[in-house]
This record gives sequence, C-alpha cells and structure tokens, in this order.
Amino acid sequence: MEPTVTESYTPTPEDHFSFGLWTVGWQGRDPFGDATRAPLDPVEALEHLAELGAWGVSFHDDDLIPFGTDERERERLVKRFRAALDRTGMVTEMMTTNLFTHPVFKEGAFSANDRGVRRFALRKTLRNIDLAAELGARVYVAWGGREGSESDAAKDVPAALDRLAEAIDTLCEHVISRGYDLRFALEPKPNEPRGDILLPTIGHALAFIERLEHPEMVGLNPEVGHETMAGLNVVHGYAQALWAGKLFHIDLNGQHGAKYDQDLRFGAADLKSAFFLVDLLEHHGYGGARHFDFKPLRAEDEAGVWVSAAACMRTYLVLKAKARAWRADPEVQAALAAAGVPELSVPTRGPGETLGQLLADASAYEDYDPEAAGRRATNIERLDQLALDHILGVA
Ligand code: GCO
Ligand code: MN
Ligand code: MN
Repeated sequence: MEPTVTESYTPTPEDHFSFGLWTVGWQGRDPFGDATRAPLDPVEALEHLAELGAWGVSFHDDDLIPFGTDERERERLVKRFRAALDRTGMVTEMMTTNLFTHPVFKEGAFSANDRGVRRFALRKTLRNIDLAAELGARVYVAWGGREGSESDAAKDVPAALDRLAEAIDTLCEHVISRGYDLRFALEPKPNEPRGDILLPTIGHALAFIERLEHPEMVGLNPEVGHETMAGLNVVHGYAQALWAGKLFHIDLNGQHGAKYDQDLRFGAADLKSAFFLVDLLEHHGYGGARHFDFKPLRAEDEAGVWVSAAACMRTYLVLKAKARAWRADPEVQAALAAAGVPELSVPTRGPGETLGQLLADASAYEDYDPEAAGRRATNIERLDQLALDHILGVA
C-alpha cells in the first residue's frame, strides 16, 4: 500500500510510542561476547528517540542511576534527566526495577530463599517507586527474571509464590499509602536468565493476580517474544489479558519460535502475528503505551540502533494502516460474514431466555441435524488468504 499524505508512517507523540532506555542502550554484551557498542547516555537516548517521533521512555532504576551511586550523584542524575524530559517533551510512562543484574539477585529477588535479599529487593523497588511517582510514570513493571530455579529441589514453589504475592501486596500498600497514581504490570517469561521462571505465561500471571490483596491495581505487561518462547499464540494471550481488563502495558518485539530470547525489533519475525496483534490493540480498546522492548542487533553499530528503533515504529504504523484497510475492505467484510465471525458476538442464549426454555427448545437438540452442521462450509481459508493479501500489499 502506498503511503498517502496522511499516512506517511512518520511517528508523532500522538501515536504513544515508547522505548525502554535499556533497548537502544544495549551494548550487545551476550553470554558469549563482549560489548560491541559504547555506553549510551540516557539523555542522548531521550533526545534521539524524541527526534524519531517517540512519545516516551521507560527505564530500570539502574539504567539511569548505576547500582551503588551515592545520594548526591543520584540527585544530580535525576535532575539532569528531568531537564531533558522537559526540553524534549518526552514522558516517563513506565518504570521498573533491575532485580537481576547484580550478583545479590543470583538466586532470586522477591522470591530468593535468602530473606535478607528479599528485604533488600523490596527496599530497592520501593525507593524507585517513589522516583516513578515523582517523574509521573503511570505503570510500574515487575519482570521477575531471576525469580525461578534450575533445580526443583532448591525452590519451594508454593512458598516462592507466597513471597512474590507478599512483595506485590507490599508495593501496592506503599502506592496506596502515598496516594500515588500508579498501577503494576507483571511481565511473564518462561525462562532466561533462570532455567525456569515463575509466572511463566500470561495465563499463570492472570491467575496469580486474582490471589493478591489488591488485584485491581495489578495487570500485565506481556512481551511478544516471551509468549512465543513458550510456544503460545501471542494474539490469543494479549486478547485474554485485554478481555480480563489486565492489559496495562505491552512489550512489543519479534521472536522466531521457541528458542533463546531474541528480542528482535517489532515485526522482524512473525509478521502475520504482528498484523493481527496490531489489529487487536487498535480495534479492541487498548489504551496504553505502544512500548518496544527489543535489542538492536549486536552486529549493528550505533547508527544501526536508531535505524532499528525507527523501524519498530514504522512497522507498527504500517500494520495499523493495513489493519484499517483490512477492516474497511468490503470483500473482507463479506468473507468475515461467510466465515461466521460476526455471529460469534451473538449470545448463545436468546435475550432473556431461561435455562428451562433452552432445555425445552427441540430445535437446539432433538430436531437439530449435527450431521448437516458437520458438513457446513466454514470459509476460513479464503478469509485467511485475504489477510495475507492485505499484509503482502496485493489486496
Ligand atoms: C526480557 C525482558 C526484559 C524486561 C525488562 C523490564 O527481554 O527478558 O523483557 O527486557 O522487560 O528488563 O524489567
Ligand atoms: Mn525479551
Ligand atoms: Mn520485556
């Protein structure tokens, strides 16, 4: 589809795109190799992202204030960052805690066997929540990268879940007591860096939230790559989070199947899934940040970092335009109807129909012809190909 004047795929702050400072700031250090890029100053990252049309950023405490920084230096760094936010008009829309890099968290943070580590993790997080509120962040993400184990002998999982719940309850209590306008978003991931991570999928996290003291304050921050790593359908997962009113925030990126966490730029892997994800977000009332959590390829230099950041936003905008065109296409609408998709929104029971009436309805069972229904056309293949045609730009 050729871009029109109004669809130049150039991002603006109204698109609500945001990036983790750790994404463009990733130096390319991996388990097998040293850094391939120089450190990136957070203020420089902010300025570059603003120039590219982003609306906001997110960051871990340690991305802005290196672990162990003294109080005076901390204040200086925050002040400098704040000034850059004001200058660029960028917002800090989400904040989170690094509970995974320092060796103290090698056996977990909120669910470490060691109680002292758990209390330290809580205090580190509580302190950063105060900064998040000060900077106006509305979402606080909790990704438990080190909460898990490699040995089932070494982790009492029910106790670990108790401790995780205790931690999130404590964070909520703090937000309530301080009167902050902040909600929490749990980020599931099946593994890496731990062999197995607790709350590994969207479904696990949704079930966990219901057992918390303040479930209304806690939702999800699902990441495309993480659900893919678990072999799950990303669109279905995000849809269920949305359906549950829990899609507070998102991490968009790309991942080729079930392997190590690739954190590719958005759209770089399963394009069809990316299309349907954008369609879901745009047409089913997702109101949060369009947040990218990816790693610019280790093989790229610094210029390549900005190319990949711009590409994440461009791909999102292209897919948004394509999703709109797909929905507006009369052929698609007819194909959707032929596949019975709109019919799914009609409740299975009639308006006001009692259970007794359903039980007495012979047309629903006694007179129903399941053999004929088993032979009916479903027209899925045609509809799916139309989606491909739209994605490929030949519709
Ligand atoms: C990953 C994770 C992390 C977290 C981020 C927030 O790719 O394994 O997504 O990037 O999202 O660190 O804590
Ligand atoms: Mn990831
Ligand atoms: Mn993430």
